[in-house]
Amino acid sequence: MRTLQQHPGDFALLCCVVLLLPLLSHGADIPLGSTLSPGNSASWSSPNNTFSLSFTPSPTSPALFVAAITYAGGVPVWSAGAGAAIDSRGSLRLTSDGDLQLVNGSGAVLWSSNTGGQGVAAAAVQESGNLVLKNSTAILWQSFDHPTDTVVVSQNFTTRMNLTSGPYIFAIDENSGNLTLRWTSGSNTVTYFNMGYSTGSKTLSSPTLTIQTNGLVFLTDDGQPASPALVAYSSNYGESGDMVRFLRLDADGNFRAYSSARGSGAAPEQWSAVSDQCRVFGYCGNMGVCSYNGTSPVCGCPSRNFELSNPSNPRGGCKRKVDLQSCPGNSTMLQLDNTQFLTYPPEAINETFFVGITACRLNCLFVSSCVASTAPSDGSGLCFLKISSFASAYQSAALPSTSFVKVCFPGIPNPPPSPSR
Ligand SMILES: *[C@@H]1O[C@H](CO)[C@@H](O)[C@H](O)[C@H]1NC(C)=O
Ligand SMILES: *[C@@H]1O[C@H](CO)[C@@H](O)[C@H](O)[C@H]1NC(C)=O
Ligand SMILES: *[C@@H]1O[C@H](CO)[C@@H](O)[C@H](O)[C@H]1NC(C)=O
Ligand SMILES: *[C@@H]1O[C@H](CO)[C@@H](O)[C@H](O)[C@H]1NC(C)=O
Ligand SMILES: *[C@@H]1O[C@H](CO)[C@@H](O)[C@H](O)[C@H]1NC(C)=O
Ligand SMILES: *[C@@H]1O[C@H](CO)[C@@H](O)[C@H](O)[C@H]1NC(C)=O
Ligand SMILES: *[C@@H]1O[C@H](CO)[C@@H](O)[C@H](O)[C@H]1NC(C)=O
Ligand SMILES: *[C@@H]1O[C@H](CO)[C@@H](O)[C@H](O)[C@H]1NC(C)=O
Ligand SMILES: *[C@@H]1O[C@H](CO)[C@@H](O)[C@H](O)[C@H]1NC(C)=O
Repeated sequence: MRTLQQHPGDFALLCCVVLLLPLLSHGADIPLGSTLSPGNSASWSSPNNTFSLSFTPSPTSPALFVAAITYAGGVPVWSAGAGAAIDSRGSLRLTSDGDLQLVNGSGAVLWSSNTGGQGVAAAAVQESGNLVLKNSTAILWQSFDHPTDTVVVSQNFTTRMNLTSGPYIFAIDENSGNLTLRWTSGSNTVTYFNMGYSTGSKTLSSPTLTIQTNGLVFLTDDGQPASPALVAYSSNYGESGDMVRFLRLDADGNFRAYSSARGSGAAPEQWSAVSDQCRVFGYCGNMGVCSYNGTSPVCGCPSRNFELSNPSNPRGGCKRKVDLQSCPGNSTMLQLDNTQFLTYPPEAINETFFVGITACRLNCLFVSSCVASTAPSDGSGLCFLKISSFASAYQSAALPSTSFVKVCFPGIPNPPPSPSR
């Protein structure tokens, strides 16, 4: 546990050092009234410069900037406002009444710690990577309680928190203590990873996920600190050295453990929650089909009746060349062998049938809202109709599933897979 207290004398001294050296606040407390902006290259750093808070170009729009805490070498672990981006005239400011605010060039406050008037006397970036707002005796707000997509060593991830990345959310289910990964779009939610880890107790009172310095990932419970459940081993388990370990919900919807050697800027993967990336719902976008080319997941379309929605982004899904409502003739069900439309429990019960392959095809053809149907052929005899506006598919020679996609007549199959696969 990190000490939450410090001596009032040190506090006052650090304040003065900072006032003399406003741009070089290595490890010192950041006084009220301090400001970071993309224009100056200032940063707020931890005592040994292990972590620092500064503006970095937004990964999605490089002309804009994100206020991020990065590990030495450049691996980001937190950002103000979950990656909210400001223009070059904006700033991150610690107001005189103790509120930390991300402000864009127009003066609009895009994010705030909501700590104004609560007695905050200074900010600091700790050696652990935790950004704290504090008075002389206590921490009043900490970034560790408001994670964005990453959890580092010594950070507690609890049921009150979630990690987000695009349409993806990682959370601990507060009732079961299960680790969950969800895809959301509007009112649609699909839970594509839902895993329970036994801690020896039937009900978890306050499950907490942590990654240890040795690379083990544990789920602990307040009531049962002596019996943590092992969630994962990092593949470089036990390796030590000047490195940071962390868990991250990646933009591809997978949840992974990483380690990064100080100064390297690189973070090799050590474990992933979903071992088969093609089983991450929505990875290839709407009507996209995930398959493997060698060991890499690649995205394509169900048939030549479709094309990529955005040719420069295969993950952006597929669109029909001709809408079903505009078919010049009638529509038909094109058979896709070794293909499954991903179906995670609980699939809407009225879209599930116990029927054979032929009926699976015909049932969809005659339900006007159905866009595809899939028979897992796993012995269950089930057929799932895809009614919702979003469908995510997986194709592999190893899959026994047969699917059907509704297209304007005639259906034009994709060319056969290249002989390299
Ligand atoms: C994490 O939880 C442990 C055990 O409850 C606690 O001692 C520690 O202070 C917590 N760490 C942070 C940064 O909140
Ligand atoms: C900073 O580094 C020095 C030398 O490696 C070490 O002794 C000290 O404990 C470190 N300080 C913190 C706060 O980790
Ligand atoms: C600042 O943010 C506000 C609110 O999001 C937005 O309306 C405004 O256009 C932004 N200004 C700049 C310069 O980005
Ligand atoms: C610091 O904040 C804590 C929690 O609000 C409060 O109990 C304590 O009295 C404050 N200390 C000072 C010196 O203001
Ligand atoms: C994620 O957590 C934040 C803060 O706890 C909460 O406001 C938000 O609703 C959560 N989002 C989801 C999708 O659960
Ligand atoms: C928790 O995960 C287990 C699989 O590990 C699953 O069988 C169970 O149904 C899940 N519980 C809930 C409430 O989702
Ligand atoms: C896999 O896909 C990439 C890019 O789409 C391509 O450059 C590469 O040649 C493919 N590899 C194989 C083994 O087909
Ligand atoms: C499609 O149209 C052809 C010719 O009009 C007809 O023979 C066939 O039964 C139709 N198929 C369906 C599924 O309606
Ligand atoms: C399935 O049931 C839901 C809610 O009960 C309803 O909104 C939906 O339209 C139904 N789907 C079909 C295909 O009947």
